[in-house]
Amino acid sequence: MYISAHQKAELLLTDLLHVCKKEGGKEMKEKLLSKFAEIFGDTDGAQVYFAPGRVNLIGEHTDYNGGHVFPCALTIGTYGVARKREDHVLRFYSMNFENLGVLTSSIDDLKPEKEADWTNYPKGVIWAFGEKGMTVPAGMDILLFGNIPNGSGLSSSASVEVLTGYILKDLFGFNVTNQELALIGQYSENNFNGVNCGIMDQFAIAMGKKDCAIFLDTADLSYEYAPIRLEGAKLVIGCTNKKRGLGDSKYNERRAECEMALSELQKELSISSLGELTEEEFEAAKHLIADEVRVRRAKHAVCENQRTMKAVEALKNNDIKLFGKLMNASHVSLSKDYEVTGIELDTMVEAAWKQEGVIGARMTGAGFGGCTVSIVENDCVDSFIRNVGKEYEDKIGYTADFYIVEIGDGPSKLS
Ligand code: GLA
Repeated sequence: MYISAHQKAELLLTDLLHVCKKEGGKEMKEKLLSKFAEIFGDTDGAQVYFAPGRVNLIGEHTDYNGGHVFPCALTIGTYGVARKREDHVLRFYSMNFENLGVLTSSIDDLKPEKEADWTNYPKGVIWAFGEKGMTVPAGMDILLFGNIPNGSGLSSSASVEVLTGYILKDLFGFNVTNQELALIGQYSENNFNGVNCGIMDQFAIAMGKKDCAIFLDTADLSYEYAPIRLEGAKLVIGCTNKKRGLGDSKYNERRAECEMALSELQKELSISSLGELTEEEFEAAKHLIADEVRVRRAKHAVCENQRTMKAVEALKNNDIKLFGKLMNASHVSLSKDYEVTGIELDTMVEAAWKQEGVIGARMTGAGFGGCTVSIVENDCVDSFIRNVGKEYEDKIGYTADFYIVEIGDGPSKLS
């Protein structure tokens, strides 16, 4: 049977879901519950939940610089089955890491441990609830299954964090809003897992809305939903399959470079973040930054923020072409000035730009591997996936994966 590249991308997703889209998640729920019973004995008291992944359309590395971001939640994400226990024991199982088996901890004296592997994310959130005055009173059995490609940069960790918060809120009746769940997720990632991430991922996931991107001002968390009506086009994610390693430390390094540039500018300017500057103001003041590398880092933060505002304006004016051009410019800046792309992301995006029907393409997320996001006209999706996939494999030596994604809602409990 001939399967087009387009169908292949959709099949790949369906396969990951282990469920036919038409059945609306019912089969998924049954599969998860039956796995839960197999691992933990029965399903008494177990509830099923979902939290999405996210993709950022524009506004990269601006969220820790007081700038704007424009992400959206996806219909793929993390499913969780959870129930309370009578004791203080935590038992975790992931269908994505079956080789790790059941990982056990206690709700008392939570601390990050290497052997705890992925469970450091949910553990961090349970710890963060305690830090915020909401001590979790009992243990839990938790089973997870994520259909976000692993390590893709579509925020599987933030998805697990928001999912855990949502589970705690529901199981123990904590009075906490979705926005607070985002902040708790970020707090736990910063202080328990040691990654100085901004608020974008957790916010996009906790506050997601179907068919909308979120225009968020990270300076004060004010936001508005912007409908994404891609008439005649699709959002295509390209996964580089590059294993990330040093990514997190480089991430923290970029953040430190921006902080230092800010403090150099503050010698003469009364600003509290790079996001407060226009391009012109930055040009007039950049001589205050002593190092050429830091000038480029700060320039990216300032210009990317301005680009994000222009992109949302373009979308409001139905000017999708301009939106695409700004996406392309964002990638150039992330590659040349911020230097977080690398040969894999650059190869994929440069191949994307050459294809017919591409409205815009850029890396998305932290960078250093991970994914690209492209807006591609429906008729050209097939050739896009085929041609970009070929060029990528020829140059990089291994294959890329492509996913056609849809914009979905924030976390939910499956009834
Ligand atoms: C990661 C972080 C976010 C954000 C992006 C880059 O995804 O978790 O807070 O900084 O990188 O835009």
